[in-house]
Amino acid sequence: MAKLNLNGLGKKEIKKFYEIPKERDKIIRDTSASQINTNFLINKIAKNLHPKVQYVKVAKIIEENEETKTFVLTPDLETSTKQLAKFKPGQYISIEVPIGESLYKRPYTLSSSPKKVEENKYTITIRRVPYGKVSNYFLDHVEIGDAFKISAPTGELYYNPLRDANHIIGIAGGSGITPFMSMAEAIYDKTLNCKLTILYGVKSKSDIIFRERLEEITSKTDNVKLAYVMVVDDDTEFASSFIDRELLDKYLEEENSFFVSGPLSIYERMNEVLKEYNLPIKYIRHDAFMSEMEIYKEEEYNVKILTHNEEINIKCNSKETILAAMERNGILAPSRCHVGECGFCRSKLISGKVKTFNDTIRIADRQYNYIHPCASYPESDIVLKLPK
Ligand code: FES
Repeated sequence: MAKLNLNGLGKKEIKKFYEIPKERDKIIRDTSASQINTNFLINKIAKNLHPKVQYVKVAKIIEENEETKTFVLTPDLETSTKQLAKFKPGQYISIEVPIGESLYKRPYTLSSSPKKVEENKYTITIRRVPYGKVSNYFLDHVEIGDAFKISAPTGELYYNPLRDANHIIGIAGGSGITPFMSMAEAIYDKTLNCKLTILYGVKSKSDIIFRERLEEITSKTDNVKLAYVMVVDDDTEFASSFIDRELLDKYLEEENSFFVSGPLSIYERMNEVLKEYNLPIKYIRHDAFMSEMEIYKEEEYNVKILTHNEEINIKCNSKETILAAMERNGILAPSRCHVGECGFCRSKLISGKVKTFNDTIRIADRQYNYIHPCASYPESDIVLKLPK
C-alpha cells in the first residue's frame, strides 16, 4: 500500500483520519436492506419538471411564409401529459413522426418563450428543405389535432450566466432563427436577463421568418437588436454580404458570446471568421442543422446493422446520415438530438469509412471506432454495431 504523506497534521487529526474507514464500515453495516423510498414529493416534482416523454397535439398552425409554418403544441390531455415541461430559450425537443412503415425522430428548436409554458404551449417552426423527409411531411400533411410523442426539452444553446457573456451575438442562417426568436421573446417578457444582437442571414427578403414580430420586439426593447444580412438580393435596406469580421465588429460589446444556428455552411464559415478573435472556446456555441444536400455527390452503400439479436442489411445513400437510413428502413435506433451532441446514438463502427460533421464524440471513443450515426455519412460499405 502506498505510504500516505501526513506531514503537517497533528496527532488528533491523524487518529481521526485512520478512524474514517471504521466509521464508514459501521454506517454500511447499519444501513437498512429495505428499498429506498422513491415516493418523496421532491421525486414527483422532478419527474414533472423533467419527464422522459411528453404527448402533445397540434393546436394551431400559423403560415409564416410560403415555405415555413409554426405549429403550436399543447398537451394531449387523453394521455399522462397534463403540463408541458419547462425549458430554456434555445433548447429543442425531439419529435417522433411515423411516416409509412417508418418511425423518424427529429429535433426542432422551440421558437416560443418559456413563459408560454405557463399557458401549456410550445411552438416549433419548420421550413421546407430539399430532401427534408420529416420537415416536408409536417408542412404538407400535419393538421390541427394530430398527436405526437416528444422528448423533454434539451440542448446546450441557451444563455448560462455562469458561462456566457451577458451580450450574445446570435448568428442565424435561414430557419436557424428559431432559438433566437425564443430568446428575443424571453428577453422581451423578462424571463431572460441578457442582451441579444441577431445577425440574420437569409438568401432573399421572402425567406425572412418572424420579421414582423422581431421588428416589434426590437422597437420596444433596447436589449434585442437585429440586422439582416442578405446573400442574394441586393437591397439597400439590408447589409448585402456574408457575415464577416467587419460586420461582427460593428456589433461587439465589451464581452460577447457567439451563438451560431443554421445549416452546415454558416457553421463552417463562422468557425473560420470567429477564429480571428482567438476566443476561449466557451464563448462560441452552435446548433448546426445540417442540410444533406450541401455535402456529397450521390453514392449508395451497403450498411450491415448488428443489434443485440439480429443482423439487418440496408442501403444508405451518401447524402443521408446512417441514422436517417436506419429510420427509413424501420430500424428504431436510440437517438435524441440528431446533430451529434447528446451521445444517445453512439455505436461501434466495426468496418468501413464514414465522414462526420459537427460531431462531439469523445476522443477516446473515436480511438475505439465509436461514431454517432446521426452525424455520420457513409463513404464505403459499413458494418455498425448498435448500443443495446
Ligand atoms: S442522436 Fe444525439 S448524438 Fe446522435
